[in-house]
Amino acid sequence: MKRIILITGGAGFIGSHVVRRFVTRYPDYLVVNADKLTYAGNLENITDIESNQNYRFEKTDIVNKQAVLDLFSKYSFDGVIHLAAESHVDRSITGPDEFVFTNIIGTVNLLNAARSSWKEHPEGKVFYHISTDEVYGSLGKEGLFTEETAYDPRSPYSASKASSDHLVRAYHHTFGLPVVISNCSNNYGPNQFPEKLIPLAINNIKNNKPIPVYGKGENIRDWLYVEDHSAAIDLIFHKGKVGDTYNIGGNNEWKNIDLIRILCSIMDKKLNRQNGTSEKLITYVKDRPGHDMRYAIDSSKLQNELGWSPIPEFSEGLEKTVDWYLSNTTWLERILSGEYEKYYDMMYSGR
Ligand code: NAD
Ligand code: DAU
Repeated sequence: MKRIILITGGAGFIGSHVVRRFVTRYPDYLVVNADKLTYAGNLENITDIESNQNYRFEKTDIVNKQAVLDLFSKYSFDGVIHLAAESHVDRSITGPDEFVFTNIIGTVNLLNAARSSWKEHPEGKVFYHISTDEVYGSLGKEGLFTEETAYDPRSPYSASKASSDHLVRAYHHTFGLPVVISNCSNNYGPNQFPEKLIPLAINNIKNNKPIPVYGKGENIRDWLYVEDHSAAIDLIFHKGKVGDTYNIGGNNEWKNIDLIRILCSIMDKKLNRQNGTSEKLITYVKDRPGHDMRYAIDSSKLQNELGWSPIPEFSEGLEKTVDWYLSNTTWLERILSGEYEKYYDMMYSGR
């Protein structure tokens, strides 16, 4: 094998797309997927590649320091792509602790293990930390987040991610660890856990349930198709400059309510419902505490330096996403049973 790569969180939404991309595009890499399999981790996301020769799964909790050290002793990793995290803002509001453990302590455990494993030969190694645009805070009507925007995280989730970004940079400046970071906007696409806005709305529309829109639905997000994020991660992992940060975004800003309306019209078409039927399900509910108003990314550095650009038009990406959820009903039904039902009732009943 030419390189041995550790991908953390590879059973999650974005991680599963990254694992598939690396396993299929780089047959001479050994891809080791380390994931705790929390409620958000699902090996069914990657059944198509699980028997490939160049793939291994290691059930690992990155908060467990010894388990992380053991993993680095078992494999001599040449690179790390670190995606494992608690990722849902609403859950960070109802229970911040897990975000501190996984996102901060888990990241430090990986940094320490990489540092000691690469001490003698750091050449050619890279620790790639996947982060979010939420670390930059919330924008007003104008402006975009650039790589120079000062950090201003405002939810326990974004604070934990900001903290991990700072630690990754500190390990570069203090110990010379070869690192690279990217901060991406909202992803959408197949395999996203249905607690997040787009798959939650698709599922509720399908089942004629209310679509909960927080506040007035005027908050703005910059949406990117998950495969575009995956392609950017591939480029940055191979060509990104050590010590640098790259912003990744779709240049695709939508008010939540406008996005939901488009989704309703796609769903009406797909479900052979009369146009306007699904929009009747829109229900304004109590706002998210501390709800960031607007995120928007300037990804010109990534576009100009590494030649990346996003591919599908939003309507095309959304349609692909809807088709995937409508034809993967077993995947969805399994996730929606048990634990998730309790979460949904806790979050949305009486809101
Ligand atoms: P996800 O919640 O779908 O998946 C997270 C994965 O991490 C799961 O497979 C889970 O089992 C695993 N995990 C959680 N805790 C772990 C632990 N202690 N040890 C090992 N594995 C653990 O998340 P996602 O949406 O795919 O996000 C992946 C990464 O990308 C995160 O770091 C997130 O902050 C970042 N990100 C996400 C988005 C987005 O829109 N989803 C945008 C920008 C950045
Ligand atoms: O910006 C990148 C971030 O995007 C990632 O770092 C996070 O991991 C990811 O979860 C996402 O965070 P958001 O909070 O923006 O995503 P979410 O899908 O939870 O919400 C999108 C918008 O929709 C947000 O303004 C809140 C709103 N919303 C969300 C839910 C779940 C609703 O109006 N109703 C809902 O039921």
